[in-house]
Amino acid sequence: MHGKILIYGGSGGIGSAIARKLHEKGYALHLVGRDPDRLASIAQELETTFTVGDVEDDATFAQVAAEAGDVLSGLVYAVGTINLRALPRLTETDFTRDFRVNALGAARAVQTALPALKKNTTTSSVVLFSSIAAIQGFALHASIGMAKAAVSGLALSLAAELAPKIRVNAIAPSLTRTGLADGILSNDQMAASIAKAHPIPRLGEPTDIASLAVFLLGADADWITGQVMSVDGGRSTLRTVG
Ligand SMILES: NC(=O)c1ccc[n+]([C@@H]2O[C@H](COP(=O)([O-])OP(=O)(O)OC[C@H]3O[C@@H](n4cnc5c(N)ncnc54)[C@H](OP(=O)(O)O)[C@@H]3O)[C@@H](O)[C@H]2O)c1
Repeated sequence: MHGKILIYGGSGGIGSAIARKLHEKGYALHLVGRDPDRLASIAQELETTFTVGDVEDDATFAQVAAEAGDVLSGLVYAVGTINLRALPRLTETDFTRDFRVNALGAARAVQTALPALKKNTTTSSVVLFSSIAAIQGFALHASIGMAKAAVSGLALSLAAELAPKIRVNAIAPSLTRTGLADGILSNDQMAASIAKAHPIPRLGEPTDIASLAVFLLGADADWITGQVMSVDGGRSTLRTVG
């Protein structure tokens, strides 16, 4: 018998791939995002409940806690930004927004779901989203690299604090074909050249990332906590030439 999983960003490329895989396995779901039409469409497809809200508005977290249900077996925070700019062009607003959406939002999501995650009769599981940009240095990534490194730190701290009742892990993807990456991938030449930079020479697909998330949420991952796991075609750790 599966529990209920709360997915922030459940209408997004990766979040919806996770939602579809969980639905196939029989999990109940509650989804969160800003666009009501996109959410309603996937909620109807997966026969699930949802909350329309912006994680930059703190009231969203209390609303989600009230609407997601009293007991949760898992939480996924798959909300993010890609704001690539040279350092001189990054404003305080850019840094603050990237931090709020990626890191502070993740912390508030877990904080407000804590009572429901603790009520689950077995171990609960939290999956957060870091990035390859928190593991390897990329030009123009100062703001997002900083925010995603905060997510990795958050995952480790929470995993220690919430053990053994709640497992907490983060996934660090490389560039994956979703709406978030559209701006980068709309240039075919650039997309091909980034794909080639991976030892497994292609871009990520949402299902590549969702497979690990679903594994981490389930009982087969019951002894895995406090990990930041890469799904990146080997890009962060391997050099195949030179
Ligand atoms: N795609 C990549 O290449 C890549 C690489 C590394 C890490 N990641 C991380 O993977 C996670 C999932 O990204 P994705 O590629 O699936 O992105 P995506 O397709 O753009 O989906 C993002 C989801 O988050 C929701 N969202 C965005 N801003 C929000 C806000 N302020 N308040 C509430 N909901 C918000 C979106 O819905 P609405 O638009 O309706 O709000 C959507 O459901 C993110 O944490 C991202 O940083 C992605």
